[in-house]
Amino acid sequence: MIRRPLIVGNWKMNGSRSSSIELVGDVANNFSTGGHVECVVCPPDVFLADVAAVLVGSDVGLGAQNVSQYEKGAYTGDVSASMLVEFTCAYVLVGHSERRACFGETSSQVAEKFVAAQGKGLTPILCVGETLAERKAERAFEVIAEQLDAVVEVAGLNALSSAVVAYEPVWAIGTGEVASPAQAQEMLAFIRGRLGEKADATRLLYGGSVSAENAAQLFEQQDIDGALVGGASLQAEQFMAICQIAET
Ligand code: PGA
Repeated sequence: MIRRPLIVGNWKMNGSRSSSIELVGDVANNFSTGGHVECVVCPPDVFLADVAAVLVGSDVGLGAQNVSQYEKGAYTGDVSASMLVEFTCAYVLVGHSERRACFGETSSQVAEKFVAAQGKGLTPILCVGETLAERKAERAFEVIAEQLDAVVEVAGLNALSSAVVAYEPVWAIGTGEVASPAQAQEMLAFIRGRLGEKADATRLLYGGSVSAENAAQLFEQQDIDGALVGGASLQAEQFMAICQIAET
């Protein structure tokens, strides 16, 4: 089974309108991989239109960082899946640990967002990850299983196998402390094992302090099909280098 590598840049709440246009321009102009690796950027929602305009005719895809679980109505501040589709998003992150920790998103809300996204044709990138305390208490596998099962219960196993799952240990996000290739592989093999018979086709990403320096070792692992990149995706050169590593 050959899975197409996927590199996703999560810009988080960074940059300005002009810096986002400049960054995506640098990414789009320098991305030429012969079509093997897939590259996606997730800017802040307010810059989606500007970024989408730059991406017209390029091979770089567009995603969003969050989506409402609701279709429409009196949900001040929320953005729906169909709105994201209108701005040519193909992907959306759901359940990023910052959404869970800073905004109190529960696993059942994450599951609703997952379903809402898929219902409008977006591919959800379901983020799961344990905290350092949970890993130290040897609860990492239990926590990941809970986070996955909450979505499987609502969406079904088939729905999950057509999405993307990103394993992002919370202790590795933005810390410079990347999981070892063996740690990442161990968890992603565990995740694949829970995704049922179609799991061989499902793309699984690792995220957490991925850089051009550590990407090669991660991508050598059997169950790592790409990366969700935060900090390093804010520098076009770093991000392109990671895409290039995934290509080779
Ligand atoms: P990082 O973030 O690469 O800066 O660690 C990854 C993420 O949060 O998606």
